[in-house]
Amino acid sequence: MTRNEHMRPEDAGVAGRHVRPILSVRNVCKFFPVTSRGFFQRQIGTVRAVDHVSFDIMPGETLGLVGESGCGKTTIARTILRALKPTSGEVFFSPPPSVTSRQSSVSSKQLSVNSQEHWPLNLATLSESRLKPLRTRMQMIFQDPFSSLNPRMTVGAIVGEPLAIHKLARGSELKGRVAEMLKMVGLEPGHASRYPHAFSGGQRQRIGIARALIMRPHLIIADEPVSALDVSVQAQVINLLGDIQQQFELSYMFVAHDLSVVKHICDRIAVMYVGKIVELAVTEDIFYAPKHPYTSALLSAVPNPDPDIPMSFELSGEVADPANLPPGCVFHPRCPYAEPRCRAEVPVLRDFEAGHSASCHFADKLTLAGISS
Ligand SMILES: Nc1ncnc2c1ncn2[C@@H]1O[C@H](COP(=O)(O)OP(=O)(O)O)[C@@H](O)[C@H]1O
Ligand code: SF4
Ligand SMILES: [Mg+2]
Repeated sequence: MTRNEHMRPEDAGVAGRHVRPILSVRNVCKFFPVTSRGFFQRQIGTVRAVDHVSFDIMPGETLGLVGESGCGKTTIARTILRALKPTSGEVFFSPPPSVTSRQSSVSSKQLSVNSQEHWPLNLATLSESRLKPLRTRMQMIFQDPFSSLNPRMTVGAIVGEPLAIHKLARGSELKGRVAEMLKMVGLEPGHASRYPHAFSGGQRQRIGIARALIMRPHLIIADEPVSALDVSVQAQVINLLGDIQQQFELSYMFVAHDLSVVKHICDRIAVMYVGKIVELAVTEDIFYAPKHPYTSALLSAVPNPDPDIPMSFELSGEVADPANLPPGCVFHPRCPYAEPRCRAEVPVLRDFEAGHSASCHFADKLTLAGISS
């Protein structure tokens, strides 16, 4: 299946066999307490950073997660990987069948948790000791390649560190694995002895990708991996992520604040607004037939090659404060289609057609502008 010949979860089956999602996020919430200042800190509010979020990622699929800054994208990414403990909800993880039955090149120690009958595992409630071997299976690539690499470590030490921490390789084997990974991401094995400051932003992001890849993960969560890079370099890094996906049988959750970044890499896109998914569909439907006014507004920032297609409205105002949500539909203060019902009633995420859901009271009545091609 090529990129954008989209795979819907319900279509996923191999020779009639149902393929399980690699990741199933179910009703996940992550709330942060807001406390008063002073000695006796009392809870005076709650930041609803992630509020009942559900989605699946299939083996080999790239799911985009898009929304403006402050919508909760990083919080859901960190919660999935259990860098944050969810307030509630479930995060089921299950490596693809081809992986659970194959001898892992990374570690025979991992095979103790890599037996089919254990899957799927709910990461939300797993103890730290059960989580530790699974952490090798899921890796994160960070937004800022300048601050995410330790400036006092050589590139070789940075890339090889996960293997060293998990005691999976050392000495010449470790060096060989690092050299192999550097080549995979378009760097030179000789770069291993240099320090991060000697590299450009794009090269640093390649170092971050090599570090993530060295554990042979099944799932990579890339949190705005190209946002800090020049536009000319963004495409190179996105292409690299696409190239390694098939080779390593990877699934991606690709986080971005800009829809144009995810257009060519994602099979499906989830649009997030103030802690909730407001629309979820295959990439073509998000671009050509959006059903939520927020999605349509995000599309207004994407260059439109067809001048006959009307522009959507441009977003005005700020993202709502997740500690002080407006009543009803949280998008209503910015929505040109808002009616009295929108201020009173919270819309639920509903399916409109197979694989296309949106949370807007008027999603089936509105004709929203998309992008032609
Ligand atoms: N540790 C924290 N304590 C309190 N609020 C937080 C914390 N982390 C994130 N938030 C808040 O949660 C919301 C979502 O943040 P974040 O997940 O970083 O959004 P995004 O990645 O989409 O920009 C923001 O309002 C942010 O201020
Ligand atoms: S429910 Fe109302 S305010 Fe919310 S997106 Fe739909 S039309 Fe706009
Ligand atoms: Mg973020």
